[in-house]
Amino acid sequence: MSLISLDLPALTKRIDLMKDIINLIRNRYSVRDFLPDPLPQEVIDDMIEAARLAPSAQNRQPWRYVIITEPERIKELVKNTGLIGLSNYFIKDAPCLVIACADVKKNLKLNQKDYYLVDVAISFQQMMLAAWAHGVGSCWMAAFNEEKLAKHLGLPKNYRIVAMSPFGYPKDSKTLYSKALNMFSGSERRLKKEDILVKLP
Ligand SMILES: Cc1cc2nc3c(=O)[nH]c(=O)nc-3n(C[C@H](O)[C@H](O)[C@H](O)COP(=O)(O)O)c2cc1C
Repeated sequence: MSLISLDLPALTKRIDLMKDIINLIRNRYSVRDFLPDPLPQEVIDDMIEAARLAPSAQNRQPWRYVIITEPERIKELVKNTGLIGLSNYFIKDAPCLVIACADVKKNLKLNQKDYYLVDVAISFQQMMLAAWAHGVGSCWMAAFNEEKLAKHLGLPKNYRIVAMSPFGYPKDSKTLYSKALNMFSGSERRLKKEDILVKLP
């Protein structure tokens, strides 16, 4: 791009957008305490759109989402899938629960690696960031019984459950459990730049 054709207003807008995205990423944290307020449909629509637009290996788009917004249905799921007593019991209070699945028929296997995990992870994180842009928190969850959950939801045999997450507006008061978790997790407890960059010989 030559200096003459440089579109300064457009460039400034892009830089501002980039700063917004970096701030969004910097401020995000796993939310485990939720207000009961339901999510507006436009927020849910933006979450789905962000997930839908994710990149994927060979554009296979293996992600499939179950979105539950009825509080009774969420409580019933928690009760019937063995989440009671487990650390992830906190999802029972969220106004929205999303189960991120993969249709493994759409999987790309390359170099002995199944890429559906990567594809769904990118898509789900995009969904979470879109929610966060609306002030809606979430928390990745891997600790669940996949077999029980798939049976409870009546998922097709070719679906794997990659992760799940509650979504909701963060509550100020925290449970003892989430306070304890925040002591050893949290975005401020990250490796330093020099620790993640590999120096080649
Ligand atoms: C794949 C994955 C699985 C996770 N599983 C759980 C989980 O089952 N329960 C939970 O409370 N947090 C879970 N987390 C959240 C992490 O503990 C959290 O992201 C990490 O400690 C960093 O904290 P932050 O998200 O607040 O920055 C999971 C995160 C990822 C990425």
